[in-house]
Amino acid sequence: MYGMVNEGIRTFILDNHGSEAWRTICAKAGVDELEFERMSSYDDTITYNLVGAICDYTGLAARDVLCVFGKYWIEFAGASTFGTLMRLSGESFVDQLKGLDDMHDRILLSMPHLKPPSFEVDQVSKDTCLLHYYSDRDGLAPMVEGLLHGLAAKTGERIEVRQVTPKSDTSDHDVFEIRLLDR
Ligand code: HEM
Repeated sequence: MYGMVNEGIRTFILDNHGSEAWRTICAKAGVDELEFERMSSYDDTITYNLVGAICDYTGLAARDVLCVFGKYWIEFAGASTFGTLMRLSGESFVDQLKGLDDMHDRILLSMPHLKPPSFEVDQVSKDTCLLHYYSDRDGLAPMVEGLLHGLAAKTGERIEVRQVTPKSDTSDHDVFEIRLLDR
Protein backbone atom coordinates (compact mmCIF):
# COMPACT_ATOMS: atom_id res chain seq x y z
CA MET A 1 0.00 0.00 0.00
CA TYR A 2 1.04 3.57 -0.45
CA GLY A 3 3.18 5.00 2.34
CA MET A 4 0.36 7.41 3.12
CA VAL A 5 -1.52 4.52 4.78
CA ASN A 6 1.50 3.53 6.90
CA GLU A 7 2.00 7.21 7.77
CA GLY A 8 -1.64 7.30 8.87
CA ILE A 9 -0.97 4.34 11.16
CA ARG A 10 2.17 6.07 12.48
CA THR A 11 0.42 9.34 13.38
CA PHE A 12 -2.51 7.37 14.84
CA ILE A 13 -0.07 5.65 17.24
CA LEU A 14 1.92 8.82 17.96
CA ASP A 15 -1.29 10.74 18.77
CA ASN A 16 -2.65 8.02 21.06
CA HIS A 17 0.37 6.24 22.56
CA GLY A 18 3.52 8.31 21.84
CA SER A 19 6.87 7.72 20.13
CA GLU A 20 8.16 4.96 22.43
CA ALA A 21 5.08 2.88 21.58
CA TRP A 22 5.69 3.47 17.86
CA ARG A 23 9.31 2.25 18.16
CA THR A 24 8.14 -0.88 20.00
CA ILE A 25 5.43 -1.56 17.39
CA CYS A 26 7.85 -1.14 14.46
CA ALA A 27 10.38 -3.48 16.11
CA LYS A 28 7.67 -6.07 16.75
CA ALA A 29 6.46 -5.74 13.13
CA GLY A 30 10.03 -6.19 11.83
CA VAL A 31 9.86 -2.75 10.18
CA ASP A 32 13.23 -0.95 10.10
CA GLU A 33 12.13 2.53 9.08
CA LEU A 34 10.17 4.68 11.53
CA GLU A 35 8.70 6.89 8.78
CA PHE A 36 7.35 6.29 5.29
CA GLU A 37 7.26 8.24 2.01
CA ARG A 38 3.59 9.07 1.53
CA MET A 39 3.76 8.86 -2.27
CA SER A 40 5.82 5.62 -2.50
CA SER A 41 4.32 2.17 -2.74
CA TYR A 42 5.25 -0.43 -0.06
CA ASP A 43 4.56 -4.13 0.25
CA ASP A 44 1.14 -4.82 1.84
CA THR A 45 2.80 -7.12 4.42
CA ILE A 46 4.29 -4.03 6.13
CA THR A 47 0.80 -2.64 6.77
CA TYR A 48 -0.61 -6.00 7.93
CA ASN A 49 2.43 -6.57 10.22
CA LEU A 50 1.99 -3.11 11.75
CA VAL A 51 -1.65 -3.91 12.51
CA GLY A 52 -0.59 -7.25 14.08
CA ALA A 53 2.04 -5.50 16.23
CA ILE A 54 -0.54 -2.90 17.36
CA CYS A 55 -2.80 -5.78 18.46
CA ASP A 56 0.07 -7.21 20.55
CA TYR A 57 0.87 -3.79 22.01
CA THR A 58 -2.70 -2.77 22.88
CA GLY A 59 -4.26 -6.18 23.53
CA LEU A 60 -7.04 -5.27 21.08
CA ALA A 61 -8.37 -7.64 18.41
CA ALA A 62 -7.39 -6.89 14.80
CA ARG A 63 -10.98 -6.04 13.90
CA ASP A 64 -11.10 -3.36 16.63
CA VAL A 65 -7.75 -1.86 15.61
CA LEU A 66 -8.86 -1.73 11.96
CA CYS A 67 -12.23 -0.21 12.85
CA VAL A 68 -10.71 2.55 15.01
CA PHE A 69 -8.05 3.23 12.38
CA GLY A 70 -10.71 3.44 9.63
CA LYS A 71 -12.49 6.18 11.57
CA TYR A 72 -9.18 7.98 12.17
CA TRP A 73 -8.29 7.75 8.44
CA ILE A 74 -11.17 10.06 7.52
CA GLU A 75 -9.63 12.82 9.66
CA PHE A 76 -6.10 12.05 8.51
CA ALA A 77 -6.87 11.83 4.78
CA GLY A 78 -9.34 14.72 5.07
CA ALA A 79 -6.53 16.94 6.36
CA SER A 80 -4.19 15.87 3.51
CA THR A 81 -3.80 17.46 0.08
CA PHE A 82 -6.46 14.98 -1.14
CA GLY A 83 -9.01 16.06 1.46
CA THR A 84 -11.15 18.16 -0.90
CA LEU A 85 -11.68 15.11 -3.17
CA MET A 86 -13.95 13.56 -0.54
CA ARG A 87 -16.46 16.41 -0.88
CA LEU A 88 -16.48 16.64 -4.69
CA SER A 89 -19.36 14.19 -5.10
CA GLY A 90 -21.64 16.03 -2.66
CA GLU A 91 -22.24 17.05 0.92
CA SER A 92 -24.36 14.10 2.05
CA PHE A 93 -23.12 10.75 3.35
CA VAL A 94 -24.84 8.77 0.56
CA ASP A 95 -23.54 11.10 -2.19
CA GLN A 96 -20.03 10.62 -0.85
CA LEU A 97 -20.49 6.83 -0.77
CA LYS A 98 -21.60 6.90 -4.39
CA GLY A 99 -18.54 8.98 -5.27
CA LEU A 100 -15.91 6.71 -3.65
CA ASP A 101 -14.79 5.03 -6.89
CA ASP A 102 -14.46 8.38 -8.69
CA MET A 103 -12.53 9.69 -5.70
CA HIS A 104 -10.03 6.81 -5.68
CA ASP A 105 -9.77 7.14 -9.50
CA ARG A 106 -8.68 10.75 -9.04
CA ILE A 107 -6.12 9.66 -6.40
CA LEU A 108 -4.84 7.08 -8.92
CA LEU A 109 -3.67 10.01 -11.08
CA SER A 110 -1.19 10.93 -8.32
CA MET A 111 -0.56 7.37 -7.09
CA PRO A 112 -0.24 5.24 -10.26
CA HIS A 113 0.38 1.97 -8.37
CA LEU A 114 -2.77 2.36 -6.28
CA LYS A 115 -4.92 -0.79 -6.00
CA PRO A 116 -8.11 0.93 -4.86
CA PRO A 117 -11.19 -0.79 -3.48
CA SER A 118 -14.48 -0.51 -5.36
CA PHE A 119 -17.92 0.20 -3.91
CA GLU A 120 -21.51 -0.12 -5.16
CA VAL A 121 -24.49 1.44 -3.43
CA ASP A 122 -28.00 -0.12 -3.58
CA GLN A 123 -30.63 2.15 -2.09
CA VAL A 124 -33.22 -0.32 -0.72
CA SER A 125 -35.48 2.21 1.03
CA LYS A 126 -35.50 5.85 2.10
CA ASP A 127 -33.31 5.13 5.12
CA THR A 128 -31.47 1.92 4.22
CA CYS A 129 -28.82 1.06 1.65
CA LEU A 130 -26.60 -1.89 0.91
CA LEU A 131 -22.93 -1.17 0.31
CA HIS A 132 -20.98 -3.70 -1.76
CA TYR A 133 -17.22 -3.59 -1.07
CA TYR A 134 -14.84 -5.19 -3.58
CA SER A 135 -11.11 -5.50 -2.92
CA ASP A 136 -8.09 -7.51 -4.05
CA ARG A 137 -7.12 -7.64 -0.37
CA ASP A 138 -8.55 -9.70 2.49
CA GLY A 139 -9.46 -8.89 6.07
CA LEU A 140 -10.18 -5.17 5.75
CA ALA A 141 -13.98 -5.24 6.21
CA PRO A 142 -13.70 -3.92 9.82
CA MET A 143 -11.74 -0.95 8.49
CA VAL A 144 -14.60 -0.21 6.10
CA GLU A 145 -17.00 -0.12 9.08
CA GLY A 146 -14.75 2.45 10.78
CA LEU A 147 -14.42 4.45 7.57
CA LEU A 148 -18.21 4.59 7.23
CA HIS A 149 -18.64 5.85 10.81
CA GLY A 150 -15.93 8.45 10.21
CA LEU A 151 -17.55 9.60 6.98
CA ALA A 152 -20.97 9.85 8.64
CA ALA A 153 -19.50 11.87 11.54
CA LYS A 154 -17.92 14.21 9.00
CA THR A 155 -21.19 14.79 7.14
CA GLY A 156 -23.08 15.20 10.44
CA GLU A 157 -25.24 12.11 9.91
CA ARG A 158 -25.93 9.18 12.26
CA ILE A 159 -25.74 5.64 10.92
CA GLU A 160 -25.90 2.00 11.98
CA VAL A 161 -23.73 -0.47 10.05
CA ARG A 162 -24.09 -4.24 9.94
CA GLN A 163 -22.10 -6.61 7.77
CA VAL A 164 -24.68 -8.83 6.10
CA THR A 165 -22.41 -10.87 3.79
CA PRO A 166 -18.72 -11.57 4.35
CA LYS A 167 -16.31 -12.19 1.48
CA SER A 168 -15.99 -15.99 1.29
CA ASP A 169 -15.87 -18.97 -1.07
CA THR A 170 -19.46 -18.16 -2.06
CA SER A 171 -19.24 -14.36 -2.29
CA ASP A 172 -16.43 -12.43 -4.00
CA HIS A 173 -17.08 -9.34 -1.89
CA ASP A 174 -18.38 -8.02 1.46
CA VAL A 175 -21.83 -6.45 1.83
CA PHE A 176 -22.86 -3.98 4.55
CA GLU A 177 -26.34 -2.78 5.44
CA ILE A 178 -26.34 0.88 6.41
CA ARG A 179 -29.28 2.53 8.18
CA LEU A 180 -29.46 6.31 8.17
CA LEU A 181 -30.94 7.15 11.58
CA ASP A 182 -32.11 10.70 10.87
CA ARG A 183 -34.33 9.99 7.86
C1 HEM B 1 -9.15 11.82 0.63
C2 HEM B 1 -9.55 10.65 1.13
C3 HEM B 1 -8.89 9.34 0.81
C4 HEM B 1 -7.65 9.07 0.34
C5 HEM B 1 -6.51 10.05 0.02
C6 HEM B 1 -7.56 7.62 0.17
C7 HEM B 1 -6.43 6.96 -0.27
C8 HEM B 1 -6.24 5.61 -0.19
C9 HEM B 1 -4.98 4.93 -0.35
C10 HEM B 1 -3.65 5.61 -0.66
C11 HEM B 1 -5.20 3.62 -0.16
C12 HEM B 1 -4.16 2.47 -0.23
C13 HEM B 1 -4.35 1.62 -1.47
C14 HEM B 1 -3.05 1.25 -2.16
O1 HEM B 1 -2.00 1.84 -1.85
O2 HEM B 1 -3.07 0.36 -3.05
C15 HEM B 1 -6.60 3.46 0.14
C16 HEM B 1 -7.20 2.25 0.43
C17 HEM B 1 -8.48 2.12 0.83
N1 HEM B 1 -9.46 3.09 0.84
FE1 HEM B 1 -9.18 5.07 0.48
N2 HEM B 1 -8.75 7.05 0.54
C18 HEM B 1 -9.59 8.05 0.96
C19 HEM B 1 -10.87 7.92 1.44
C20 HEM B 1 -11.53 6.71 1.56
C21 HEM B 1 -12.90 6.57 2.03
C22 HEM B 1 -13.81 7.72 2.42
C23 HEM B 1 -13.17 5.23 2.01
C24 HEM B 1 -14.43 4.48 2.38
C25 HEM B 1 -15.43 4.94 3.05
C26 HEM B 1 -11.98 4.54 1.57
C27 HEM B 1 -11.83 3.17 1.48
C28 HEM B 1 -10.62 2.53 1.32
C29 HEM B 1 -10.38 1.12 1.61
C30 HEM B 1 -11.41 0.13 2.15
C31 HEM B 1 -9.04 0.87 1.31
C32 HEM B 1 -8.26 -0.44 1.54
C33 HEM B 1 -7.77 -1.04 0.29
C34 HEM B 1 -8.56 -2.23 -0.20
O3 HEM B 1 -9.72 -2.42 0.21
O4 HEM B 1 -8.02 -3.01 -1.02
N3 HEM B 1 -11.02 5.47 1.29
N4 HEM B 1 -7.21 4.68 0.09
